[in-house]
Amino acid sequence: MPETIPFSAPHVRMGSSSGQPLSRRDGVLKVTGAATFAADNHPENLLHAVVAVSTIARGRVASLDVAAAKAHPGVVEVITPANCPPLALDPEDKHSLFDFRFDALQNDRVRYAKQPIALVVAGTLEAAAEGARLLAPTYEAETAHVGFDDGEPYDPPAVGIGSPPNFDKGDIAAGHAAAAHRIDTDFETPPQYHNAMEPHAIVAEWNGDRLTIDTPNQAIVMSRAAFAGYFGIPVENVLLRSPFLGGGFGSKAIMNGHYILAILAARMLGRPVKLALPRDQMFGPVGHRGATRQQLRLGMDAQGRLAALEHRTVAMTSSFDDFIEPASNASLNLYASPAISTRHSAVRVDIGTPGPMRAPGEATGSAALECAIDEAALACGLDPLEFRLRNYAETDPASGKPFSAKSLRECYARGAEKFGWAGRPIEPRRMRDKGGNLVGWGMGTALFHAPMFQAEARATLRADGTALVETAGADMGQGAWTALAQIAADGLGLTIDQIEFRSGNSELPDGGVAGGSGHTATAGTALHNAGTDAIAKLAELAVNAPDSPLFGAGNAGVEARGGRLHHRADETRSESYADILARAGLKTLEGMGAGGRDSADAEARAMFSHGAVFAEVKVDADLGQVKVTRLVGAFAAGRIINPKLAKSQLYGGMIWGLSFALHEEAVHDRRSGRPMNADLASYHIPVHADIPDMQALLIDEDDPYVNPLGIKGVGEIGITGTVGAIANAIWHATGVRARRFPIRIEDIVC
Ligand code: MOS
Repeated sequence: MPETIPFSAPHVRMGSSSGQPLSRRDGVLKVTGAATFAADNHPENLLHAVVAVSTIARGRVASLDVAAAKAHPGVVEVITPANCPPLALDPEDKHSLFDFRFDALQNDRVRYAKQPIALVVAGTLEAAAEGARLLAPTYEAETAHVGFDDGEPYDPPAVGIGSPPNFDKGDIAAGHAAAAHRIDTDFETPPQYHNAMEPHAIVAEWNGDRLTIDTPNQAIVMSRAAFAGYFGIPVENVLLRSPFLGGGFGSKAIMNGHYILAILAARMLGRPVKLALPRDQMFGPVGHRGATRQQLRLGMDAQGRLAALEHRTVAMTSSFDDFIEPASNASLNLYASPAISTRHSAVRVDIGTPGPMRAPGEATGSAALECAIDEAALACGLDPLEFRLRNYAETDPASGKPFSAKSLRECYARGAEKFGWAGRPIEPRRMRDKGGNLVGWGMGTALFHAPMFQAEARATLRADGTALVETAGADMGQGAWTALAQIAADGLGLTIDQIEFRSGNSELPDGGVAGGSGHTATAGTALHNAGTDAIAKLAELAVNAPDSPLFGAGNAGVEARGGRLHHRADETRSESYADILARAGLKTLEGMGAGGRDSADAEARAMFSHGAVFAEVKVDADLGQVKVTRLVGAFAAGRIINPKLAKSQLYGGMIWGLSFALHEEAVHDRRSGRPMNADLASYHIPVHADIPDMQALLIDEDDPYVNPLGIKGVGEIGITGTVGAIANAIWHATGVRARRFPIRIEDIVC
């Protein structure tokens, strides 16, 4: 399957492609099984690898029965620390903010359960799996620590990806002292694992010192450089192909030991090697959302205005690396308070290193903050919406900068209206349905930053009037193949069915990172600029050609539309791209473009997407069973390129919020340190029957500062606000304030 998708779009209307609710262009390929995911590649002479993983969480591997595994007739090689060749770079070193320490058999230490301890390579997957079982490891086990109270606490130098751990504004003690109402509340969030439908997988093949890898990846060109570094080869010797990803959520943006081991094995054996993680091995070595304990202390004046906002987080990280879930940062950019104080500390435990997981920091932090805001509203005797209207900030509380655009008031108003919030009793346990279930309504504010990274793109006009556009972006399922092609079509003045879009391959211009909800803005801007560059060159050809109807129009005097350049002042004068290229004797004409934030705008403005989420729950008064019956979210996220896909992203985020509130939790055994629910049967996620009637309203927003196209992102904001909205609705139904997530029946029935 090539990385190019032929595309015909039945929904195309006249005019701009952007804004059209097109179906995803790779949808049919995916539902028919024609899309080639990494593990679907079967190069000739392929070997299969299986990782043997530790069953202890701390200690060392004392023995491995390598002889028994090698005696298996199908097994070709067993790689252990004893025979594992060294890498060009030490996996214990960190070279950039995005580097995580990983385990690639560099020694016999065990630092968490399910850590790789050997790699077995065989002619078939079954033989490799049997060989891995024959290794029968023995261990020198040490006591593992997996709980908050038995880890070793410390003050981290940074949180998230290089953010400051603490923030102070105003006099927090004075704010608390002067407050007429105070709340002091705490919450706990569990470890959660990304669990993309497609497990991490790689097919690695060497040809001399050239390496080809098929692997799902959110940051294709950056990752190519990382792979080249670990194997000591030039960047251009690595070809990384990642046309389709079955989800990523942050876990496919970072380096992992199993990728490295498969590549090492392919080099040692001179044959291509495939490695796909079984589901249980995704609970440890490939990142997760780290657990948090959060405390919020809020002080309000007599009018219900915040006087002090204090948010403290203790986050779990591994014994050997640092990723500190930046939960307290959720309190930096939303509610106005003359005094704000945030802190993070961390606890080292014997669990794999956490990492960014969809809305890292914002998901956990907003869950706690939005519950605390509800408690604060109650303390002031105010409706939770009224309290938020009194307290949301008009300028960014942390930086003091104006927002590039802020449509939060409209999100509150439209969401509340659609939900039917008016008339909600302030007191809990006041509403019941016909069946006697307690009914509760809750809300939460949604917030996510609107970043841009760096990207490049190429647009090539072709003799037949169509165009090829290229950028090494990643479609994790969010619809990038489609939305980016829509932007490219507009930049070129073509319809989307005249656009051939190529992506997911490291030989293409660097599309940047598909993460941080910044991919459409970043790669989209690059594609748009590549298109306008190609059109400018085309216009140059036309206006300088005496036999062109556009001769003498001047570059500023033509407009690209419908595959033709039009004279701005004289509609009768136009010429097709194909004719212009033909006259010039050109088969193709290429434009290049870059995407990145304007530094002056970045300096002057705070840039965020905003939203408001409203939830209804019904709770069985005797059994404590919770059913979320309605979810309404209203989101303002700049210009929406494709409302169908944007809504789909927002639904996905809101469903994840529901999952966070009620279902999702990895439980690590306090004795063994092992995750006890490392499968999709016992790691609970919502199923269709758990999902209520949902609505995601898109609030029009013109943001002229985020980028010239006005694009923000929608990938992560849906989680924020939703968790709090559901928890607050449960409180409203029952009068019980849950202190930990997911909220359990035993937390409610008391
Ligand atoms: Mo993400 S956690 O921005 O892939």
